[in-house]
Amino acid sequence: MALSPVDFQFVSQLVRQRSAIVLEPEKAYLLEARLTPLARTEGFGSLEALIAQMRAQPFNGLHRKVVEAMTTNETSFYRDVHPFDALRTVVVPEVLERRRAARTLTIWCAASSSGQEPYTIAMTLLEHFPQLTSWQVTILGTDLSAEMVARCKQGKYGQIEVNRGLPAALLVKYFEKRGMEWQVRPELQRWCHFRELNLIEPWGTLPPMDVVFMRNVLIYFDVETKKAILANARKVMQPCGYLFLGGAETTINLGDTFERVQFDKAGCYRLKR
Ligand SMILES: C[S@@+](CC[C@H](N)C(=O)[O-])C[C@H]1O[C@@H](n2cnc3c(N)ncnc32)[C@H](O)[C@@H]1O
Repeated sequence: MALSPVDFQFVSQLVRQRSAIVLEPEKAYLLEARLTPLARTEGFGSLEALIAQMRAQPFNGLHRKVVEAMTTNETSFYRDVHPFDALRTVVVPEVLERRRAARTLTIWCAASSSGQEPYTIAMTLLEHFPQLTSWQVTILGTDLSAEMVARCKQGKYGQIEVNRGLPAALLVKYFEKRGMEWQVRPELQRWCHFRELNLIEPWGTLPPMDVVFMRNVLIYFDVETKKAILANARKVMQPCGYLFLGGAETTINLGDTFERVQFDKAGCYRLKR
């Protein structure tokens, strides 16, 4: 049975309030596809029953699971490749020069999903900048979804996940086969820290960031939300910091804080001086 417009509106409003993700009415099919299995695992006879229960209660764990189920967690190792080329060839060498006295490098992955992006950053650093082993390197991965943050911390990936984008030489070097899964080795995990962070709620204390990866998340938000998040990002970035966005994202028309840096197709921005 198709979801009623009233139920669709209730859930889409909840998702928008709590995550900023905009669900247009033509996404009703997506909502049903994602929430029907959740209704079943939560012991409801139907999606309608789950929604009725949510209506009857203040925001709680069930509402949270619904919001998380509506996030899109698509990601892969070395996704789009170009940002990691730019990191290796231009961004990190520049930061190494700027920070040579302090010997700190801080990178934030602001929608880290299941962790492939922060671990790709860690592999890029370990492969190309051996001198960083004597630096204080922090790669902070954050996400709205508690389930995704738990996966990041676990660092376990299935065969299909490692087949997507991860060169075989890096797989055997940085991952250990455990049963059907591949476990990230401790040397790759050493710099990586993970925690929940909702981009539309207060961010708490963050260290000044040399580089921010905020890829493939702004795309789900409306213009005002994107503007507010980019304005906040500016506040946590070092004056010469770099920002990477996804291929379909841009800072154009979202304030004049950032300027595009031409690194092939890297989607790279820098704070205006
Ligand atoms: C498509 S994934 C992007 C993963 C990775 N950055 C990449 O480009 O491969 C989008 C992620 O954004 C997260 N997300 C959605 N809304 C968010 C919000 N308001 N705050 C923080 N993370 C959010 C989702 O949970 C999901 O893991």
